[in-house]
Amino acid sequence: MCGIVGYIGKRDVAPLLLEGLQRLEYRGYDSAGVVITSPKAAGLKMVKAKGRVRELEARVPKRFTGTTGIAHTRWATHGAPSDENAHPHMSGDEKVAVVHNGIIDNATELRAKLEADGTVFLSETDTEVLVHLIARSEADTLEERVRQALKHVEGTYGIAVLHADFNDRIVVARNGSPVVLGIGEKEMFVASDVAALVAHTRQVVTLDDGEMATIKADDFRTYTTEGSTTTATPTTVEWEAESYDMGGHDTYMHKEISEQPEAVDRVLRGRIDDRFSTVHLGGLNLDAREARGIRRVKILGCGTSYHAGQIGAQMIEELARIPADAEPASEFRYRDPVVDPDTLYVAVSQSGETYDVLAAVQELKRKGARVLGVVNVVGSAIARETDGGVYVHAGPEVCVVSTKCFTNTVVAFGLLALHLGRIRDLSVADGKRIIEGLRKLPAQITEILKTEDEIKALAEQYTDAKSMLFIGRVRGYPVAREASLKLKEVSYIHAEAYPASELKHGPLALIEPAMPTVAIVPDDDLLEKNRAALEEIKARSGKILAVAHQIQEKADHTIVVPKNEDELDPILMGIPLQLFAYHTALALGRDIDKPRNLAKSVTVE
Ligand code: M6R
Repeated sequence: MCGIVGYIGKRDVAPLLLEGLQRLEYRGYDSAGVVITSPKAAGLKMVKAKGRVRELEARVPKRFTGTTGIAHTRWATHGAPSDENAHPHMSGDEKVAVVHNGIIDNATELRAKLEADGTVFLSETDTEVLVHLIARSEADTLEERVRQALKHVEGTYGIAVLHADFNDRIVVARNGSPVVLGIGEKEMFVASDVAALVAHTRQVVTLDDGEMATIKADDFRTYTTEGSTTTATPTTVEWEAESYDMGGHDTYMHKEISEQPEAVDRVLRGRIDDRFSTVHLGGLNLDAREARGIRRVKILGCGTSYHAGQIGAQMIEELARIPADAEPASEFRYRDPVVDPDTLYVAVSQSGETYDVLAAVQELKRKGARVLGVVNVVGSAIARETDGGVYVHAGPEVCVVSTKCFTNTVVAFGLLALHLGRIRDLSVADGKRIIEGLRKLPAQITEILKTEDEIKALAEQYTDAKSMLFIGRVRGYPVAREASLKLKEVSYIHAEAYPASELKHGPLALIEPAMPTVAIVPDDDLLEKNRAALEEIKARSGKILAVAHQIQEKADHTIVVPKNEDELDPILMGIPLQLFAYHTALALGRDIDKPRNLAKSVTVE
C-alpha cells in the first residue's frame, strides 16, 4: 500500500526521504516521488518516477537540496502506475504539494466541479482534487486551507501538505489511514509507518482519525479537523531499527520464518502463571465476571489473520467450551450483522491498520459491542479502537507474506483460550498440560526449522504443479487454508484448501497424477479418518505430501513434525509449509518479499 515519509529540520532532506521510502518499500508500490523546499528557498522542487525507489533516485538531480520535504510510494487505485499519477501532486502554480494514502470517494464529483471552474488536472488520481481545493483556499493559514479542503472530501486519507508560502511547516491529517509523527532533536518526521522513522527516532505520536498536526523543526501541535487542540502523548517504539534489516538472510520471508522460536518465546514471556495453571493477559480489560458472562466469541480478520482466528476459535471452543467462530472482517462488515451484547468480538490484525478490520470494529463499537484486539503493531488503529486485547509481540514483519505473525497470533489465541477456559470449566490438570505444551513450542519450532534442507528438496519436486489441493480436518483445516494461501501468494501456483471430510462431495473429481494434495494428518482422534482420505486420493493416482506426526504409508512424501498437545498441534503443522511455499517460490524465481499485486497492509477498501 502507499507510504508517506516527511522531514523538517536542518539535515539535507532528499537522501533522508529516499532512505525512508526504501524502508517503506515492503508495503508494495508502483511509483514514487519526492518534493522538497527549505526556509530560504523560493519554491518547491519535485521529482517523480514510475517504478522502484532506485529509479526515482536515479532521476534526482545533483543540486536537489533542501531541509524540508515529503515523499511517497504509490499503489495505484485511481489511474495506472505512471510518472504523472505518482505522488506528490502539485497545484498549477507549483505552490501546494500533497502526498496522500487512502481513497477519496467523491473525487469524481469534486473533479467535475473543479474542471467546470477551469482547473486543469495533470493526473488521473483522486488525490489531485485535494491539491486544487487547498490551492483555491484564501484562508490566512495553511492549517485553515487544509481544513477547508478536507471539509469537501469524503473517504479515507493520511496526507502531508507542503506549501511554498508556508515553508516553515508541514501540515498532516488523518482519517482512516495511518499518520505517525516522529520527534527528534530540533527536527521532526512524519510517516505512515514507524518503519520509516525508527532509524532516526523512537519517540512517536500516532494521530487519531479526525486529527491534524502541524510540524515544524522544533515544535509540533495536534488538533482536530474542527480546529480544537488535542493532547498528543508521545510513546516509545519498542522495535529497533535493526529489526527491519535482513540480518544475513536473502529475503525477509526467510528471516521471519527463522525468527519464530524467539518470537513465540516473546508472546509467552511474563504471561504464564504456574501457580494457578493459567495465564495473565494484562491488556485484556475483561474481569472474571465479565468473561464468565460471554456466550459466544466471534473472531474477525482478513487473509492470514482470519486463518489464525479460525484456529483461535477452535482453541476457544475446545479449552473454554464457548461457541466460537471466525469470519472474514471484509464480509462481516457488509452483511448488516446482528450485534449481540453477550458475544465477545475479537479483531485480529498483524498491522492493526487493515481497513476492512478497522471498519468492522468501528461498526461493532457503534452498536455497543465489546471488541478485543489481537494485534502485532503496538498503538496501531485497531489496537486503539478496541476495548483491550493481546499484543502478539512477533516484532516487525516486513515480508508481504505473513509467517511469524501467523504463528504468534495463533499462540496468542492459545493464551486467550486458556485464560477463558481456566475461569470457566477447564481443570487445573488441563491448564497445566496446555502450559507445558506452550512452553515446548520454541524448541519444537527450532526442530522443524532444522529440516529445511529436506523441505527444500521436496518443494523442488512440486514446482511443476499447475494447481495443488490442501486438505485438513477440524484442527487441520485452517492449517490447510493458511498453507494454501502461502503457496499461492508467494509462488503463484494455484492452490485450493478443502476440509478432508468434503473430498467425496466434489473435489475428488480433481484428483489425478498432475494434481498433488498436501494433507494435514495429526496424530489425534481423527487420524484414521484422515488416513482414509489419503487412501481415497491414492486410489485415484493422486500424489500426496503429508504433514504428520509419523510417516504416512499412503503418502508419497511425509514431513514429520514434533507432536504437542492436540489443541496446540496446528501451531506447529503450518511451519514446514511456510518453508515449502518459500522454497517453491525460490525455485520458480519469484519476487518473494513483494509478490505481484499484493501490499503489506491493506489500508483501503
Ligand atoms: O495486517 P493484517 O493481519 O490485518 O493483514 C491481513 C491480510 O491482508 C494479510 O494477512 C494477507 O493475507 C497477507 N498477505 C498474508 O500473507
